[in-house]
Amino acid sequence: MTIDQKLNVVPFISVDHMMKLVLKVGIDTFLIELAATIEEDFRRWPAFDKTPRVASHSHEGVIELMPTSDGTLYGFKYVNGHPKNTRQGRQTVTAFGVLSDVGNGYPMLLSEMTILTALRTAATSAVAAKFLARSGSRTMAIIGNGAQSEFQARAFKALLGTDKLRLFDIDPSATRKCARNLEGLGFTIVECGSVEEAVEGADIVTTVTADKQYATILSDNHVGPGVHINAVGGDCPGKTELSKDILLRSDIFVEYPPQTRIEGEIQQLPSDHAVTEVWQVITGEAVGRRNDGQITLFDSVGFAIEDFSALRYVRAKIAELNMFEELDLLADPDDPRDLYGMLLRCEKKLSAV
Ligand SMILES: NC(=O)c1ccc[n+]([C@@H]2O[C@H](COP(=O)([O-])OP(=O)(O)OC[C@H]3O[C@@H](n4cnc5c(N)ncnc54)[C@H](O)[C@@H]3O)[C@@H](O)[C@H]2O)c1
Repeated sequence: MTIDQKLNVVPFISVDHMMKLVLKVGIDTFLIELAATIEEDFRRWPAFDKTPRVASHSHEGVIELMPTSDGTLYGFKYVNGHPKNTRQGRQTVTAFGVLSDVGNGYPMLLSEMTILTALRTAATSAVAAKFLARSGSRTMAIIGNGAQSEFQARAFKALLGTDKLRLFDIDPSATRKCARNLEGLGFTIVECGSVEEAVEGADIVTTVTADKQYATILSDNHVGPGVHINAVGGDCPGKTELSKDILLRSDIFVEYPPQTRIEGEIQQLPSDHAVTEVWQVITGEAVGRRNDGQITLFDSVGFAIEDFSALRYVRAKIAELNMFEELDLLADPDDPRDLYGMLLRCEKKLSAV
């Protein structure tokens, strides 16, 4: 029986299954196909329900719910962001998500999304850069060499051919880890001792640090003409990475303005500062890069449609490869209106044992 014929079974993708799925497909192929799915959904952006994510902030971090629907499928992600977690051996970001059939409301997939979020964030960054960075951009600085960093490097190489990396982290062991993980994949890697050194000659600067504060990871003098900035780590109220002066010199591209104005780098700017939505650049409704001297900034915060695309892609892939666990998540009484009778029959069975 195929995944689609099993009415009351919800396919479940554990962390172990996700890793095996990604490796079976191949990391580069996975990123390229996922990026294509994200691009496809960005092209039909107006078809989606959109709302800024629902965030519950605390002193230590944030827990967020990210829902969306295209009228046929519904998806949501649960995700946290706790910058101090790594000190206790926990991830800064963990996530899981659900994809459902709008027609009957039944979940069609429950999936881990910690690994999937790293992949979808990197794929989204690379899609934006494909439309915004100077063509032939081969050198990328990555500031912040934690959990997301290798995924960013791999997506940019797979989609744009960016194969020269300049890495910097305030913790040199993170930089060493990142460089070691990317060995033997065709990258030329320079481990740098400062932001100044990392951005030297970079066509693209990715900032992907974690700190729950207004930080200045990149100052104005770090950004020369023509650079594309992929700002990933500033994604919460009070949590930014770029100096305001950079924002004032850049053309700014965002996912969903009502969410980015709350969470992104542009929280530092007046609420009417002009920004362009990335989906409009992809469809050709808006102009992206106009010349080689322009500074383009993708103020990434992560939007629900990217997670929807990721869940949609994974659902199609596991159906094709038959790689999932069957989860007993939905009650299935013989008579749909006799839920209580199902409980009674279970009670009888248990007392007979
Ligand atoms: N935009 C999105 O869609 C999206 C998605 C996922 C994660 N994120 C964000 O990306 C960031 C990184 O996530 P992660 O899972 O890699 O976190 P992580 O904790 O694993 O890594 C963060 C790294 O940043 C380094 N760092 C902190 N301050 C720094 C500084 N001033 N200069 C240089 N390096 C510094 C830390 O030492 C650490 O190695 C987080 O802020 C997270 O919220 C954004």
